[in-house]
Amino acid sequence: MVKKTLVALSAIALGAGTLSACGGGDSASGSDDGAITMGFAQVGAESGWRTANSASIQDTAEAEGIELKFSDAQQKQENQIKAIRSYIQQDVDIISFSPVVETGWDAVLQEAKRAGIPVILTDRAVDTDDESLYVTFLGSDFVAEGEKAGQWLVDNAADSDVDGDGDVNVVELQGTTGAAPAIDRKEGFESVISSDPSISISASQTGDFTRDGGKQVMEAFLQSEEGIDVVYAHNDDMGLGAIEAIEAAGLVPGEDIKIITVDAVRDGMAALAEGKINFIVECNPLLGPQLMELAQQVLDGEEVPRRVVTEETTFTQEQAAEVLESREY
Ligand code: AHR
Repeated sequence: MVKKTLVALSAIALGAGTLSACGGGDSASGSDDGAITMGFAQVGAESGWRTANSASIQDTAEAEGIELKFSDAQQKQENQIKAIRSYIQQDVDIISFSPVVETGWDAVLQEAKRAGIPVILTDRAVDTDDESLYVTFLGSDFVAEGEKAGQWLVDNAADSDVDGDGDVNVVELQGTTGAAPAIDRKEGFESVISSDPSISISASQTGDFTRDGGKQVMEAFLQSEEGIDVVYAHNDDMGLGAIEAIEAAGLVPGEDIKIITVDAVRDGMAALAEGKINFIVECNPLLGPQLMELAQQVLDGEEVPRRVVTEETTFTQEQAAEVLESREY
């Protein structure tokens, strides 16, 4: 009853652009000992970024005394939906998840809402017309990340025309089809490179955010495409897979083919410092502390911002060499 009343109040607060809510159980924090119980439905373990993100969430929950029920959906939406349903059944205080794809969440989120359990989106957004289905969304601005990648290429277009034919021929390794970072990083990149008619994307395919996927797609591109100047990979792992394919083809990554990626995880930064990648846009996976703080605020009935954007930077080869040793993930 308490939950239902507070969720109703939350829906009203939405109109003001902020939202507060209270979670499961009969007390504000749910369980008998006062500890918060959070159900977290993770996308999978597809990349170095995801591994760092999961560790940040698990370590922070432990440090804060939050009881975390954590599931790995192996990049399948149906597994995430099952996990969320099981958290609803277990009457957790709060649910959080990083949606593998943008669409198809309304039904399960309605179920959470009916059960009076607030939902926090982390990392990736959902595409819904019903804003009352989640309290807040914590994560990166993926369009801005794509724009930063595109801006570097526009600024370095002359150097990136490796074969000197007057055109900068880009191949794109997209993230998981239908995932917010794949859609938005493509959109941001395209919007910026459209200002320079010498730059064009000649081929674009998903590598599913994995190293193997990036390698396989790049092998196929090297067979099918003439005069590739640049690889734009939506994450480091696919870029690292592309490096393997480029080297196997007897070419020098970073020189014969320029490489731009997103994430800035340690392996990507090492490749950048070594000269095999040319530019990385950071996507910060260490969302655990902010997520747990938001969860506590929501369950305490405090207003929280509707959107919390992660602060991020970019790295050149020289900058990567400087920070590599102290890189946390
Ligand atoms: O949603 C964030 C993206 O998901 C990361 O950039 C990628 O590495 C991960 O798999």
